[in-house]
Amino acid sequence: MGNLLIRDATTADLPAINAIYTHYVLHSTCTYQTEPSTGSERAEWFAAHGPKHPVTVAMLDGEVIGWGSLSKFHPRAAYGNTVEDSVYLRHDRQGQGIGSLLLADLIARAKAIGHHCIIGGIDAEQKASVALHAKHGFVQVAHLREVGFKFGRWLDVIWMQRMVG
Ligand SMILES: CC(C)(COP(=O)(O)OP(=O)(O)OC[C@H]1O[C@@H](n2cnc3c(N)ncnc32)[C@H](O)[C@@H]1OP(=O)(O)O)[C@@H](O)C(=O)NCCC(=O)NCCS
Repeated sequence: MGNLLIRDATTADLPAINAIYTHYVLHSTCTYQTEPSTGSERAEWFAAHGPKHPVTVAMLDGEVIGWGSLSKFHPRAAYGNTVEDSVYLRHDRQGQGIGSLLLADLIARAKAIGHHCIIGGIDAEQKASVALHAKHGFVQVAHLREVGFKFGRWLDVIWMQRMVG
């Protein structure tokens, strides 16, 4: 592999972030979004993040090939030290350890920011995502049955949690 760098995302990265995500919106149950985000929806999403809720990109030889984020887990104030993580690689870059690098970086950022725990909400069939989170110390705390419906069938969600504070 060439030179891999993880850095804070900027607005210039949003088209690449959205393109990576749109592939999974259209072809996978790893996200329960069913319609691609528009450019302005992606810009609103980014603006809603900020210093306590970072968005990162993995750059390989100057190209965005993955991204990660720590988002608010819940809008109510008392949930303020809990975040939900996302990690998405360009589909031709899976299984090369890059997801691990992005998630390890997000965990370090969560600690540095002072968050208390991270939640991963993962479709139960997504073996790679479950394995990735387990490898980084996340523990399954819930299995919600048939809470999603995509591609004509019901889907279960696993919640995994990692304490950081
Ligand atoms: C999930 C995802 C981020 C994982 O990143 P990745 O770079 O492919 O994973 P890594 O290569 O870092 O592997 C992490 C661990 O998961 C395991 N793993 C990876 N793919 C796997 C698979 N398909 N089945 C089972 N385990 C798998 C690896 O073996 C590794 O564990 P190990 O080091 O003990 O061997 C990536 O595959 C992806 O973008 N998937 C689609 C989007 C998605 O599901 N995102 C998660 C939503 S939060």
